[in-house]
Amino acid sequence: MTKYKVQRCKVDLFSEIEEPEREELKALRRELEEANYKYYVLNMPTLSDREFDEKMRRLQDLEAMFPDMYDPKSPTQHVGSDLQRDNVQGTKGKNFEQVKHKYPMLSLANTYSREEIEEWVRKLPQDVEIVCELKYDGLSISLWYEKGRLVRALTRGDGQQGDDVIDNIRTIPSIPWRIERNDIPDSFELRGEVLLPWERFEALNKEREEQEEPLFANPRNAASGTLKLQDPREVARRGLDAYLYYMIGEDLPGTTHFERLETAKEWGFHISDAIQVCHSVDEVMAYIAYWDTERKNLPVATDGIVLKVNNLAQQDELGYTAKTPRWAIAYKFPAEKQLTLLKEITYQVGRTGVVTPVANLEPIQLSGTIVQRATLHNEDFIRSLDIRPGDRVWVEKGGEIIPKITGKEEPTPDPSLKGGELDSRQDTLPLREGLGVGFPTHCPECGAELVRVEGEAAWRCPNEAGCPPQIKGKIEHFVSRKAMNIDGLGEETIDLFYQKGLLHNIADIYDLRLEDIAAQERLGEKSAQNMLAGIEASKQVPWSRVLFALGIRMVGETTAKKIAKRFTSIDTLQWATAEQLCAIEDVGPQIAENIMRYFEDIRNLEILARLREAGLQMEAAVSDQLSVVSDKLAGMSIVISGTFSHHSRDEYKALIEAHGGKNVGSVSKKTSFILAGENMGPEKRKKAEELGIRLLSEDEFLELIVES
Ligand code: IVH
Repeated sequence: MTKYKVQRCKVDLFSEIEEPEREELKALRRELEEANYKYYVLNMPTLSDREFDEKMRRLQDLEAMFPDMYDPKSPTQHVGSDLQRDNVQGTKGKNFEQVKHKYPMLSLANTYSREEIEEWVRKLPQDVEIVCELKYDGLSISLWYEKGRLVRALTRGDGQQGDDVIDNIRTIPSIPWRIERNDIPDSFELRGEVLLPWERFEALNKEREEQEEPLFANPRNAASGTLKLQDPREVARRGLDAYLYYMIGEDLPGTTHFERLETAKEWGFHISDAIQVCHSVDEVMAYIAYWDTERKNLPVATDGIVLKVNNLAQQDELGYTAKTPRWAIAYKFPAEKQLTLLKEITYQVGRTGVVTPVANLEPIQLSGTIVQRATLHNEDFIRSLDIRPGDRVWVEKGGEIIPKITGKEEPTPDPSLKGGELDSRQDTLPLREGLGVGFPTHCPECGAELVRVEGEAAWRCPNEAGCPPQIKGKIEHFVSRKAMNIDGLGEETIDLFYQKGLLHNIADIYDLRLEDIAAQERLGEKSAQNMLAGIEASKQVPWSRVLFALGIRMVGETTAKKIAKRFTSIDTLQWATAEQLCAIEDVGPQIAENIMRYFEDIRNLEILARLREAGLQMEAAVSDQLSVVSDKLAGMSIVISGTFSHHSRDEYKALIEAHGGKNVGSVSKKTSFILAGENMGPEKRKKAEELGIRLLSEDEFLELIVES
């Protein structure tokens, strides 16, 4: 009894002295936890190794001083891990936990008409205050905070439940992981918009263009694609941002929406400065007019204005429809459109010989980017718009990244738009005749007479083997990442080698010699060696990709895969009939015809013979050929988890598909079994145990598919 008292007394006596150290201990745990995440998961260290070690040592000391604060989750008790729950890097979507929203995520009623906005405002009670905000064009997110910690970050999903993308959201620097205040409610939710700023969006698309990946149409699509990635490191690299515009929860401070946003700002949240409380229709209209132009200077995309009733009691009175609150409305800006001078039409010849007219414009700023070129598609398009150089044309950029020309200034030019220039140039321009608008009769690159295949809108240069952009384009396609993936042989090098007479067709690549390459300016022996190594490695590229690399018209990556599955060698494909080809999914008469034509051309046959001679894979690997016939895994949904020693994860995926099974991302009761490698994701293991789903080792799986 006495002993107990003494102890108590001791603790009480020292508690004041201990308190700062206990706080330090907690702060260090948080700091190191965050540092681990940034180091291992994001690959973006925030502390030097030395700083990290020092802090870790200090934490160990403090934990030794306060054994009652032992926590198995402390960074001293586990090593930093780059495992993201049960995420599989590089796979798309599906691996997020789906969580029900506490409050449904509604959308907003919207209009493009300022009159309707006026009407909406006039119908509200007389004394109403209206908060005007920008409508950010990204994707909505709901951030849950419990005891000051960010615990969930849900996408809108279907409005009732969303994906928890918290690991990706934690990469956004402006979103706090923790709020260190004691005046915050136990739990609350902040909603807002996740955005990819214009600058980041453009850099990302530039990079994707270089790597021949499909471009994102707009920052919204880019942000949404990014948020669903499974690798937070990649998300962090892309640089998302977020603006928050709505706080909900029980017992929140304030009686107005505006006050709540001010409070959220005080707590450290990123709230826009463009928010304004308005008291009249005129003020609202002035806000819209101001931001209609000013928004073009913002770093992120906006597509309208949101009006919200400020008073929360009034909001409650107005209530909700099934889909939208009655206390808010959005005014959407019309697609941006501007007149500019069409300076010149140039013609681009692609790798398949199609000649595409391109409008060269007097540069204009449209939806955040400078536009100076736009495609005119083909001759019919130019005719339908009746445009020619010197016209002032309407350029429009809506949700899509590629600007469109939608018409020309009609009927007579406005004098303020320098109409005089129009008159003077009319004397000097050739008259429209024949093909109209002077669409060339001959290839602008090689001079061959253009042909127009019946039923096609495009004019084409038929000089496949002698037209420089076609020759270079075919080589560029052949070496590209999804085809033969030959590193070091980019557009510029191909152009240089073409000029120097080293490359005329794809087969020439395999005749390149070290001394020829190294003799070129800008290319030393080292890069020559790398290039040759890449060329050598390409000899292992599987048959389906070789087929894609050949560049047969309309035979894209997916079609090539399907054809290669049915015709497992170039020899069988060469003699395929139109009927056999058309029996393949996705192959129609036009593609069948293109394939047959390809094999009728003696020059192609010569190239194929040289490629075969060089050692390219002109037939499917034996394992592939065997595997295509099995349906051992038909109807099964199989999850792959962990790392493997016999095959790569992609190879296992291919094997599953080749045997009729389906590879899925997450474990559910529908999962047939899990192909489990080393270090299988703990979440997946737990779920499998709960649902009683079988785990198959790599060897067991291989036995299963080979056994008869
Ligand atoms: S308020 C219950 N405010 O617009 C009302 N939404 O078209 C919740 N959005 O799903 C929305 N900026 O993703 C609100 N300042 C803003 C907004 C905004 C963009 C988005 C949001 C919403 C969509 C509706």
